[in-house]
Amino acid sequence: MSAPTADRPATGVFSPTRARIAARTLRTDNWRKAPILTDLGLAAFVIYATVRAFWGSAYWVEDYHYLTPFYSPCVSASCVEGARHFGTWVGEVPWFIPLAFVSLPFLLLFRLTCYYYRRAYYRSVWQSPTACAVAEPHARYTGETRFPLIVQNSHRYFFYIAVVISLINTYDAIMAFHSPTGFGFGLGNIILVGNVVLLWIYTLSCHSCRHVTGGRLKHFSKHPVRYWIWTQVSKINTRHMLFAWITLGTLMLTDFYVMLVASGTIPDLRFIG
Ligand code: FES
Repeated sequence: MSAPTADRPATGVFSPTRARIAARTLRTDNWRKAPILTDLGLAAFVIYATVRAFWGSAYWVEDYHYLTPFYSPCVSASCVEGARHFGTWVGEVPWFIPLAFVSLPFLLLFRLTCYYYRRAYYRSVWQSPTACAVAEPHARYTGETRFPLIVQNSHRYFFYIAVVISLINTYDAIMAFHSPTGFGFGLGNIILVGNVVLLWIYTLSCHSCRHVTGGRLKHFSKHPVRYWIWTQVSKINTRHMLFAWITLGTLMLTDFYVMLVASGTIPDLRFIG
């Protein structure tokens, strides 16, 4: 895009008082690459997760008690009985309600309101900005001052819920050390535990976690324990973007592996049991 046309007001770098440069940007690098990769990555996950969440089968391995995180917790009468680790809360649900209806909406909101993902989709989807020093396609900008974007300020509550869901995923991963003869250990356990560990790192590296643990304090010297926790959270927080993407990958991988084993497509590689 170049200079504004008659139907679009001269804003931003095209304002009357700014130096007259007709180009949207003078950058010569491939500044579209990062937003395109972000779009492709997010779309791949959203499509995969949506299809699997509504699939309704191949989510539980009876012999080894593997439960995919996309179906946890499974609390309706529609769930396979063994997969109901926390009991049966409601009767059968129609096909358009995912079996993990208790957790999925909150996990979606947790990631949607995540500070890193906001940066990612404000750039790649909203084009605000598409890249640094590239003029916006928008004539107006209100940031996060109005509804609906002001609701992003509720992120910490979704962080608290995500901690509870991580505990549930941890319980599932522990229950999966099972075989028809008692204790069991297979490749599925390594995948499930690896996924849970990375989910914890992503969750605890959250900016809201950094704030509530110690970031909001004024005098660290008076709070040695919270200072130590804040220091550790800050260390993983510097990699928050990385863990956001890694966990999207491990969630898909974990679900895919459980799906293959649960559907009988491949056997689980067993070490014990
Ligand atoms: S900021 Fe990303 S999960 Fe909280």
